[in-house]
Amino acid sequence: MADRVLVARDHGSSQAAVMKWHDRMGRLAAAIRFRNSQTYWENRYVAGGTSGVGSYDVQAQYKADFINGFVRESGVASVIEFGCGDGNQLELAEYPLYLGIDVAAPAIERCIQSFAQDGSKSFMTYDVRAFADRARFLHADLALSLDVVFHLVEDDVFEAYMRALFNAADRFVIIYARDRDEAPPLKRHVRWRKFTPWVERNVTGWKLSQLEPAPLAEYQDFHVFARVE
Ligand SMILES: C[S@@+](CC[C@H](N)C(=O)[O-])C[C@H]1O[C@@H](n2cnc3c(N)ncnc32)[C@H](O)[C@@H]1O
Repeated sequence: MADRVLVARDHGSSQAAVMKWHDRMGRLAAAIRFRNSQTYWENRYVAGGTSGVGSYDVQAQYKADFINGFVRESGVASVIEFGCGDGNQLELAEYPLYLGIDVAAPAIERCIQSFAQDGSKSFMTYDVRAFADRARFLHADLALSLDVVFHLVEDDVFEAYMRALFNAADRFVIIYARDRDEAPPLKRHVRWRKFTPWVERNVTGWKLSQLEPAPLAEYQDFHVFARVE
């Protein structure tokens, strides 16, 4: 497990170069075969792709430092992540209990394999359009969305995802994404959205309690929402 992190951090090694090449091929294959956000990610992982640059190296460390600090300082006992990815980011996490959920089964299979010896982490695949947890069987102190919101290109998927995210959170929601509307040309799997107005309109009893601006252009902003009684 540790080896994988070291390889991911050291892109000077030949193994890391092979990983990068596989990732590039995976992204290319998925882009060519693009049909919708879910199949994009399934195809990308099946073709050897990864969760992306934001889940590796310095960006992953930046995300982990912020979230691990928050978990520690806020006494968060359990974390649920919607869109957990291939597990590379998770290698840096310090969470007491964790459930990772993703629409892409190949990513979840990688996580199950990588964390086979870790009894504090559970994983499951779900279909966001065919998911309703009205009785709140799945919930945790903190619900996480890291580098996912700007990949929800379909309106109904965005809506269902945001509802599932807030529904699963007992105390906090953290969204790591830019809060802006923009659809970059030639990137069909990316659509930036202004999600804070959606939260104001659609979920009651929550407030934006912290905004941590991105330190560099390619990073995202941390938005921490807290439940208000
Ligand atoms: C850029 S990766 C980020 C992975 C991880 N959160 C991280 O920070 O390393 C985006 C992930 O979101 C997942 N995803 C895309 N649409 C989703 C949805 N509607 N619900 C849950 N996960 C989704 C993809 O399969 C992919 O694994």
